[in-house]
Amino acid sequence: MTASLHVVDHALLSHRLAELRDVATPSPRFRRLLAEIGAMLTVEATRGLPSVTAKVTTPLTTMDHRRLAGPEPVLVAVLRAGLGLLEGAMQILPDAPVGHVGLMRDEHTLQPSQYLLRMPPEVTTRGAILYDPMLATGGSAIAAISRVKESGAPVVRFVCVVAAPEGVAKLREAHPDVPIYTAALDVKLNERGFIVPGLGDAGDRCFGTE
Ligand code: PRP
Repeated sequence: MTASLHVVDHALLSHRLAELRDVATPSPRFRRLLAEIGAMLTVEATRGLPSVTAKVTTPLTTMDHRRLAGPEPVLVAVLRAGLGLLEGAMQILPDAPVGHVGLMRDEHTLQPSQYLLRMPPEVTTRGAILYDPMLATGGSAIAAISRVKESGAPVVRFVCVVAAPEGVAKLREAHPDVPIYTAALDVKLNERGFIVPGLGDAGDRCFGTE
């Protein structure tokens, strides 16, 4: 099995991504754009959620209508930058429980280390959608998905904004059952493990740190 890769193509998404990438975009606007992109990507990532047909009574008549078969999946933000996407995801799935995985990538070894894991119990039945704007070497995504699976998630989806081919390949190899949804597949990683052309360090740009 190979994980499916969905590079989401939409004029409004691309428009926002152009501004997100722009080095001149300030933190408040960057956060707002991430939230909007998070909402759009959530629509795509949930396209195939199981649905059922149920009766709906309109003011005029009764009809059969498609509705979600079950409760909303758990949303998991990979800290810190995943918080930006999460905000938009919560608008689309307002009843979804929320989990957090705190990971920090060492800037020299590029290895992620975990500093937090909080997962709601519903993850064992509902499955999870993970959010992190950057898929660079793939180390953070692989670790975050492993934690969520260890917490009992039967189904996992991964949402990012920009992905490097190197990270996509590693993630597909490590978690072939996890579909990837991204707004862009970029060209490469540079020698410092940054995605090129990318958008810089999403966590720092979100929260104004260096
Ligand atoms: C960045 C980014 C991803 C990770 C991607 O986070 O938000 O989580 O690096 O890199 P990888 O694919 O090579 O693992 P960072 O560790 O800088 O933490 P932050 O979100 O707190 O800034």
